[in-house]
Amino acid sequence: MHTLSLTKDAEMETKTAEQSSLDYKNAMSQLAGAVNIVTTDGPEGRAGFAATAVCSVSDNPPTLLVCLNRNSSAYKYVTANGVLCVNTLAANQQDLSTLFGGKTPMDVRFSAGEWTTHETGSPLLSGALASFDCRIRTVHDGGTHDILICDVVESIASDEDEALVYFRRSYRQV
Ligand SMILES: Cc1cc2nc3c(=O)[nH]c(=O)nc-3n(C[C@H](O)[C@H](O)[C@H](O)COP(=O)(O)O)c2cc1C
Repeated sequence: MHTLSLTKDAEMETKTAEQSSLDYKNAMSQLAGAVNIVTTDGPEGRAGFAATAVCSVSDNPPTLLVCLNRNSSAYKYVTANGVLCVNTLAANQQDLSTLFGGKTPMDVRFSAGEWTTHETGSPLLSGALASFDCRIRTVHDGGTHDILICDVVESIASDEDEALVYFRRSYRQV
């Protein structure tokens, strides 16, 4: 009897945690976010993933943060190389988000788009609205994700295109 009620309590707790995670995801879907392709290259190899969890920290020195899922296939590449480039997508680059945000092999992801490299060696995407070439300064524990604080060594901007935005679980143009 006692065991049964404990099990029920545990079940209730799981349900509450599941519900609160669902509520959180539903509320987060109301936050419109820029879509970025975060890339890296170096001794560990080349990799990239789609990311909306990118945020400015400071302009002096130029610093931004990226949240990276520890279970993602790009994780070991980014953390071992210690460098990354945040490429902010233009409205006409939605296909790249689908590729880099899905379970696609890395060479297939990079076969789309044109890439160059600057100081850190991380791939810069041609036609991106902005590119931030970065060295990772510190890595912080964010539970399922690592929070990467990055020194921006070069910022490149293009104001020619509209932006791609992720809002209510779909892509929009701004
Ligand atoms: C619109 C969008 C935004 C995403 N934002 C993030 C993010 O901020 N951080 C992250 O680690 N993964 C993010 N992801 C998921 C990664 O892109 C995804 O884990 C990865 O590319 C595919 O998984 P895999 O490489 O592990 O196979 C996002 C995906 C999409 C489609």
